[in-house]
Amino acid sequence: LKITGFNDDFGDLTTLISVPKRSPFGNPSYRGNYDGEVLAKLVGFLQRNGIQSPYVYDPMEGGKTSRDVCSHLALPYIGDDIHNGFDVVNDDFHDTGFDLTMLHYPYWSMIDYAKDLAPELQGKDMSRMDWRTFIEAVSHVNYKAAAHSRYVAVLVGDMVVKGKGFIKSIQREMAWVGNPIRFFTKLQHNATSFRTKYSNTNFIPIVTEHLILFKTDYKPGGELWILVPGQYKKIHVDHYVTWKTAIKNLSKSMEQITPESVFEGIKQHFPVKLQKTNTPEATIRRTLQELESDGFLQRAVRGIYVKRAS
Ligand SMILES: C[S@@+](CC[C@H](N)C(=O)[O-])C[C@H]1O[C@@H](n2cnc3c(N)ncnc32)[C@H](O)[C@@H]1O
Repeated sequence: LKITGFNDDFGDLTTLISVPKRSPFGNPSYRGNYDGEVLAKLVGFLQRNGIQSPYVYDPMEGGKTSRDVCSHLALPYIGDDIHNGFDVVNDDFHDTGFDLTMLHYPYWSMIDYAKDLAPELQGKDMSRMDWRTFIEAVSHVNYKAAAHSRYVAVLVGDMVVKGKGFIKSIQREMAWVGNPIRFFTKLQHNATSFRTKYSNTNFIPIVTEHLILFKTDYKPGGELWILVPGQYKKIHVDHYVTWKTAIKNLSKSMEQITPESVFEGIKQHFPVKLQKTNTPEATIRRTLQELESDGFLQRAVRGIYVKRAS
């Protein structure tokens, strides 16, 4: 992908990552396998910043892409996966003092990594957790990684919720650790989902995922700061639409504006506003007077307003 007007002298790592041609690292048939060039680019960045031989950890290595890259670059490496019986959420990490921990989380309910696992391990597979448990587990693993590693890279996608049409975004809801060095957008090439035949094509295909590189630089006795995870909250809609705005909006479709017609309109189109007042009639009369003194309405006769010609 060519970016117009961009000076190539900066090398091969920008905030847009695209590796269209597969490199030979990892097992390409492992579901959700990522291209090793991604890790190679991050390693290059660390090397340019003085870490000549980064010590890399990948506790969810799946098809062993990270392992192959590190072996190719002769870097010290430790990898593991629930497929070896190691649980990244509850088990101890294998060492501390890593330079880079690569966290390529499961694509939640999209890919079931657990089906070939022994029954006692199936429940520990993160892809089978319910959403809230999953997000809490992701944040917990991010904290653990930050406590064990100078840099933490998180690679995650957005998943469409079946039958709903909206997405669940891991990166938006998980905790961020230390300082984000960069937020990369990574193009997805040849994803399995691209080959699915859909009867309904009226949706927006996802062709990107997110890579975030955090610098934690945690030292024993030091501080570790996190950005707390996203939370769901129901908001009171009436805090965000004032009486004035509501009545202005209603008056667009009214020839004559009376307190009674406005009350009916509010009941129909802005019912939440009525829950907050015991005296809606008085509020409506006062707001009509305010709109008159703002010059938006003019009084035709007592109790009847019309829009002022602009
Ligand atoms: C997106 S895949 C990683 C793919 C890998 N980066 C590659 O290149 O093939 C996520 C991996 O997380 C593993 N996993 C899921 N839950 C886990 C857990 N609790 N502990 C360790 N690994 C887990 C899955 O088995 C899967 O291999």
